[in-house]
Amino acid sequence: MKALVYHGTKDVRIDKVPDAKIEKPTDVVVKITTTNICGSDLHMYEGRTDVEKGKVLGHENMGLVEEVGKAVDTVRVGDYVCLPFNIGCGFCANCERGLTGYCLTCAVPGSAGAAYGFAGMGPYSGGQAEYLRVPYADFNCLQLPADGKEKENDYVMLSDVFPTGWHATELAGISPGDSVVIYGAGPVGLMACLSATIRGASKVMVVDRQPDRLKLAEQMGATAIDDSKGDAVEKVLALTNGLGADCGCEAVGYQCHDHHGHEVPNLTMNNLVKSVKATGGIGVVGVFIPVDPGANDALAKKGQIAFDFGSFWFKGQKIRTGQANVKAYNRKLRDLITVGKAKPSMIVSHELSLDKAPEAYKNFDDKIKGWTKVILKPSL
Ligand SMILES: NC(=O)c1ccc[n+]([C@@H]2O[C@H](COP(=O)([O-])OP(=O)(O)OC[C@H]3O[C@@H](n4cnc5c(N)ncnc54)[C@H](O)[C@@H]3O)[C@@H](O)[C@H]2O)c1
Ligand SMILES: [Zn+2]
Ligand SMILES: [Zn+2]
Repeated sequence: MKALVYHGTKDVRIDKVPDAKIEKPTDVVVKITTTNICGSDLHMYEGRTDVEKGKVLGHENMGLVEEVGKAVDTVRVGDYVCLPFNIGCGFCANCERGLTGYCLTCAVPGSAGAAYGFAGMGPYSGGQAEYLRVPYADFNCLQLPADGKEKENDYVMLSDVFPTGWHATELAGISPGDSVVIYGAGPVGLMACLSATIRGASKVMVVDRQPDRLKLAEQMGATAIDDSKGDAVEKVLALTNGLGADCGCEAVGYQCHDHHGHEVPNLTMNNLVKSVKATGGIGVVGVFIPVDPGANDALAKKGQIAFDFGSFWFKGQKIRTGQANVKAYNRKLRDLITVGKAKPSMIVSHELSLDKAPEAYKNFDDKIKGWTKVILKPSL
C-alpha cells in the first residue's frame, strides 16, 4: 500500500510499504478515507523528536472498516469509524478511569500512552496511508452515524484536535461565564476556542501572529490578539479589568517562539501566568517533551524551562497538563456535530490526495498563509 514515510528531518515521502493487516484477533483494518496532518507531526518533521526513520506517520484517522479480527464483537465490515489518536486497551488501570491517553497495555513497557505513527508512543504505524491496523477495535472505533460521509471533514476532527481543544478547556477548569485566554491559533487553539464557546465562556481571547488563523478565531466569536502588534499580556489585562482571564489554555508547545520566529521555550507558559487571574486555572495541551537535544536553549535541551513559579504560586493558580484522553469526549462531541451545534471543519484549508502529502508538510510547516489544516484523502 502507499504511505507517508519519515526519512529524516524535513524529508517525508510517499513509499510502497507492506499492507496493514490483522495481527491480533482484537484488531480491525480500516481503509482510510480521511487522514490529517497535525501540528504534532511537525515536531517530528522538523527533526525535534527521536522518531525512527521508516515510520509511517498519521494519527488523525477515519475510514471504512475493511477487515475484522475473530474476537471483534461490535465493529462490522463497512462501518464508518473515527479513531482516537491514542490507542487504548479499555481495561488497564488508566483506561478504566477514562485516561486513555495513558494506556498501560498499549504503551512501550515502563511508559504510559500509545498512538499511531508517533515518536515514543509505541510501534504502531500511522494512517497517512491507504490502510490502518486498529488494535482493540471494539474499544477504539467510534461509530459514525448515517451522515458520516457528508460530514466527514467534521467527524475526522474527533480523532484529535476537537477533543484536544476540549481537553484544554477541561484542564483549565472552565465554567459558564468565564473569560479565557488561549495561546496559539493553530488547529488545537482554534478547537479550544470552539470548545470554550460551546461551554459558555463569556469572553474568549486568542493570541497568535498568523492573521489568517486569528481571523478564524474571530469568526468563532473570539477576540483576536496579534502579539506581533503589541504585548499580548497587556491586551488581555486591559480586556479583563486588569485582573487577568479566569482561565487560560496553552496550545503551542515547546517550540513556541517570539513573533520574529526565535524559539523562547518558556514564553507561553510565563505569559499564561501573567495573563490569568489569581486562583485561575491553566490547561496545557501544547506538547512539552522530557529531552530536546535539537533545542538551542541549554535548559530546553534537558526538557526544562525557566518557569515563573514564584508568580504562579503567589497567584495561587492551578495547572494541569497532558495528552488529551480522546475517548473521554469523542462520543459527545460527535453528537454535537451530528445535530449541527459544532462544525470543526471550518478550520480545514486544504483537501489533498495522499500523494501531495510531502509538499503539504512543507507548506504547513512553513506556516504559509492560508495553510491552517490539511486533510488528505487517499482516494483522490
Ligand atoms: N495534548 C494533546 O493531546 C495534543 C494533541 C494534538 C496536538 N497537540 C499539540 O498542540 C500544539 C498545537 O498544535 P497545532 O496543530 O495547533 O499546531 P500548529 O503548529 O499548527 O499551531 C501552533 C500555533 O502557535 C502559534 N504560536 C507560536 N508561538 C506562539 C506564542 N509565543 N504565542 C502565541 N502563539 C504562538 C503559531 O503561530 C501557530 O499558529 C502542538 O504542540 C501539538 O503537538 C497536543
Ligand atoms: Zn494530531
Ligand atoms: Zn489501557
